[in-house]
Amino acid sequence: MNTKLPLLGGLTVNEFLRDYWQKKPLLVRNAIPGFKGLLDPQQLIGLACRDDVQARLVTHQRKKWALRNEPFMPEDFEGLSRKGKWSVLVQGVNHFLPKGAELAQMFSFIPHARLDDLMVSYAPPGGGVGPHFDVYDVFLVQGLGHRRWQISTQEDQTLVEGAPLRLLKDFKMEQEWIVEAGDLLYLPPHCAHNGIAEDDCMTYSIGFRTPWYQELAEQFLVYLQDRIEIKGTYADPDLKAQKHSSEIGPDMLQQVARTIRKVKWDDEDVANFLGSYLSEPKPHIYFDSPAKPLTEARFAQAVQKSGVKLDLKTLMLCHGSSIFINGDAHQVGQGCYRTLRELADSRSLTASSKLTREAADLLYQWYLDGYVTPGAK
Ligand code: SIN
Ligand code: CO
Repeated sequence: MNTKLPLLGGLTVNEFLRDYWQKKPLLVRNAIPGFKGLLDPQQLIGLACRDDVQARLVTHQRKKWALRNEPFMPEDFEGLSRKGKWSVLVQGVNHFLPKGAELAQMFSFIPHARLDDLMVSYAPPGGGVGPHFDVYDVFLVQGLGHRRWQISTQEDQTLVEGAPLRLLKDFKMEQEWIVEAGDLLYLPPHCAHNGIAEDDCMTYSIGFRTPWYQELAEQFLVYLQDRIEIKGTYADPDLKAQKHSSEIGPDMLQQVARTIRKVKWDDEDVANFLGSYLSEPKPHIYFDSPAKPLTEARFAQAVQKSGVKLDLKTLMLCHGSSIFINGDAHQVGQGCYRTLRELADSRSLTASSKLTREAADLLYQWYLDGYVTPGAK
């Protein structure tokens, strides 16, 4: 935490968090030396055409913006360059490309609970998604080609009415850079920006989620509804005659209000909710169980020999004595917790890791679910 990182332009994690995170943009030239990108435009288009991938195609032709979401066919991308400016953006690349997961992991000085995903975009010269602001934090790593980034700290966030995507009506550029392979731009939420491809351009965005409080509160109530137990039924042996039989009387109101106040929760419930909710995969994500699963003994041998790693799509968090994996919660003993926390932190365990019986059993169950696989990173 107090080591100066080239990734952060020589800042320590603590300095970055104190001075930039959620506060102001940071441009780092050559943050990832030698980074050339992880896939080429055709491979990205191939990913965009998969039925388990979320992707967008933004076109800007004759001053008209248009947005299309998946599903895509390769033909959708043919001949686009002749028609004007465009960009394809593919979400969740870290779930499909091991090198994408490694890139996202470089930013694990931000807690996993905050990570959304790695999005990769391609745009031919002039392409982009227009001036806008996002409600999340993002690290934008340049891969192929060059991008002109324009940013503004403007307060005016009025959007173009009726546009198919969120475009700022009056973007007033304050700073501009042309970035190249390995450069990094960090943008805090609500920082207005416009990225324009200078040439064939691919950008890797490591995005962090900032859930709306409304969403968290609603989902917490959903979580709670399966966990409350309030005994008894409504009773009114002392019922008094009412003048207006359609009115809800004060006795009924008081009795029900008193009962509802018995719904209680504590920080442990909030932690359990957060762990389950934030480790829940997005709805289009599916896990493949092994076609010919190893027996538990063979699986244990394979883990001893070559370690174990999380499936690229697996989300894993932990708190207290609970481990959360892809929306499920498991209460475990201390030794097991320490090992599984290591797995959650680094997304893999080395061959020599000592496993308790409890950890070995859970790992085997997760292997059968397709959440983990034996093998090194
Ligand atoms: C991109 O086009 O790669 C970045 C999109 C954005 O500005 O959020
Ligand atoms: Co943006």
